[in-house]
Amino acid sequence: MNAPIENRFALVDHHGRPVTEATYRGRMLLIYFGFTHCRVVCPRSLGKLSAVLEALGPAAAAITPLYITVDPARDTPEVMKTYLETSFPRFTGLSGSAEEIDAAKRAFRIFAQRKENPKDPEGYDMPHTAISYLIAPDGQYLAHFIDGVEAQVIAEKLGTLLGQAA
Ligand code: NI
Repeated sequence: MNAPIENRFALVDHHGRPVTEATYRGRMLLIYFGFTHCRVVCPRSLGKLSAVLEALGPAAAAITPLYITVDPARDTPEVMKTYLETSFPRFTGLSGSAEEIDAAKRAFRIFAQRKENPKDPEGYDMPHTAISYLIAPDGQYLAHFIDGVEAQVIAEKLGTLLGQAA
């Protein structure tokens, strides 16, 4: 028996509901961290992951894709809801206080740090780790995918894991 898994996050979803990792137990989680003002990396990753889920067809229903902000000052639940529903509707956005977001980042070893950039809204950017994590329905870590991994590779891995879980 594996030891019970602690919640890696306690946040608020983009509908304004408080959630923890335990809220999603029983579902496979695909978790990606970023921020909605991200111009290149997040749109590319969220687009790729959305395409992977699309390619899985009905099997994708077993997976809950989560997008956790590293920029809670700008990414309120409302901002995330608008962004995701407009562009990446499969994803549920999670936000929280700066402390809650820091705890979630630590749990997933995500690095993100504010960088001044006058071209950005409010004058800053948030360079961040671009790794997606796959978490099993019981909370166990299953896999992670670095930014450069092809959609096809992720799709095959997810397909295999979903087949094993079925
Ligand atoms: Ni990003």
